[in-house]
Amino acid sequence: MAVGIFDSGLGGLTVLDAVQKRLPDVPFVYYGDNAHAPYGVRDADDVYNLTTKAVERLWEEGCDLVILACNTASAAALRRMQENWIPTDKRVLGVFVPLIEALTERQWGDNSPPREVTTKHVALFATPATVSSRAFQRELSYRAIGVDVEAQSCGGVVDAIEDGDLILAEALVKSHVDALKRKMPHPDAAILGCTHYPLMAQEFQTALGEDVKVFSQANLVAESLADYLDRRPAMLGTGTESAFLTSGDPDAVSARATQFLRRKIAFTAA
Ligand code: DGL
Repeated sequence: MAVGIFDSGLGGLTVLDAVQKRLPDVPFVYYGDNAHAPYGVRDADDVYNLTTKAVERLWEEGCDLVILACNTASAAALRRMQENWIPTDKRVLGVFVPLIEALTERQWGDNSPPREVTTKHVALFATPATVSSRAFQRELSYRAIGVDVEAQSCGGVVDAIEDGDLILAEALVKSHVDALKRKMPHPDAAILGCTHYPLMAQEFQTALGEDVKVFSQANLVAESLADYLDRRPAMLGTGTESAFLTSGDPDAVSARATQFLRRKIAFTAA
């Protein structure tokens, strides 16, 4: 039994950390496609091709269930994968739905018609590909009415995090939050719609102000995965070992991962 966790790079480690804490007995195989990050500046075909290749690699590790801990892949590729690519004995889940359910005050799997919710003005911070897909607005419209979403495409932040340049990442976060506030001066809530961004959560919160509720995905995804595995234990798959795989340079990726998670993480070449 092992569950696969995929991201274009280091961002999915924020999700991995939360799912490991929530499900300490489940082995997880993490795949970071660091050689091809960032995905957020790629077109949808490119993201689809890279994501399907990575997911196949996780299937080879015995992970019948793979979580796309990457909003860009969830937004640009998941629907197409679910339509005609995923075999019936495998599952691939994205990270959008748990977040939108939390924002719209819904229980897991509540498919009732869209209704009014408390949050009215939402700032969405995400990669250029996620913003242009409008997948977040689409999923939200299935569940809520009357919510005004202002999306800010945060160019450069993922590159800076992948390069370990946190000073640049902080400056970029501030300038993206300023740009958002020019369009929406008083958001009620902000969504960190890229799994890299929780690594800069404090910087987002400071720039937005303490009165803005910041939603990030890691814990929400961990809860919904625990619930899913309760209902579908067979999806735990055949793999038994945890592992960290990267398409990039294992030494460099391990060093950054260790810095971000504040515990020793050792990647091997995928
Ligand atoms: N962490 C990713 C996401 O959630 C990927 C960002 C990227 O590679 O541009 O969107």
